[in-house]
Amino acid sequence: MRTPYVAGNWKMNLDRRAARDLAVAVRDHAVSGVDVGLFPALVHLDEVTRATAGSHVRVGGQNCSDEQEGAFTGEVSARMLKDIGATVALVGHSERRHVYGESDEFIARKVRRALEDGLEVMLCVGETIEERRDGRTEAVCQAQLTAGLEGLDHAALARVSVAYEPVWAIGTGETASPEQAGAVHSYLRGVLSGAFGDEVGAAMRILYGGSVKPTNAAELMAVPDIDGALVGGASLRPELFLPIIDAAS
Ligand code: 13P
Repeated sequence: MRTPYVAGNWKMNLDRRAARDLAVAVRDHAVSGVDVGLFPALVHLDEVTRATAGSHVRVGGQNCSDEQEGAFTGEVSARMLKDIGATVALVGHSERRHVYGESDEFIARKVRRALEDGLEVMLCVGETIEERRDGRTEAVCQAQLTAGLEGLDHAALARVSVAYEPVWAIGTGETASPEQAGAVHSYLRGVLSGAFGDEVGAAMRILYGGSVKPTNAAELMAVPDIDGALVGGASLRPELFLPIIDAAS
């Protein structure tokens, strides 16, 4: 059975004090049977890992370098993330793909680097509205998923989760319906089974992201192949994020 997983991607929001206060609120919220993750901005990671140390909350970077170390100005390595207490890296978020032009190949290198250097990975995939209108949702998500995970062995795959985030639903208030999201999740699970075997397909968690709110979280996460939520805007306010965690349990 897959444990539900609810994570907040804070993106480029909050100041240090607000990040700490929010992390404490999440830490102190009792949960049962749900994995909870936070992805603060890099400069707040240290504060948040300290605030949540020893708790059930896992903390991750929103991005990490594909390189291990060296002359890469402005980059942060998986080892550095791990060193300050992060345990997971978000890789391939649509804002990285579409705003910063990260390719499937580049994202795959980041996935491998993060896993090799001891982090878990949450790999994001998702189609744009044009791709959906063109009937290419499955092809796009399949290509992003298989490119991102290519060549990984089962031990590495056990440390990967996937977030399906349709680009048209991110920050727009427009949510994929449970039927729309569920269809893609089931398809992606089939892709995982086909590529890596049924065991991997059955075990890997696939989260949904895109305008998740307390009002739609329960019905989305009630879909059998939707194993949790990656939450943007609503993760910035405890009164919105904590009920979403509760909806997963
Ligand atoms: P919103 O929840 O603000 O739509 O953002 C989703 C997202 O991009 C999470 O990574």
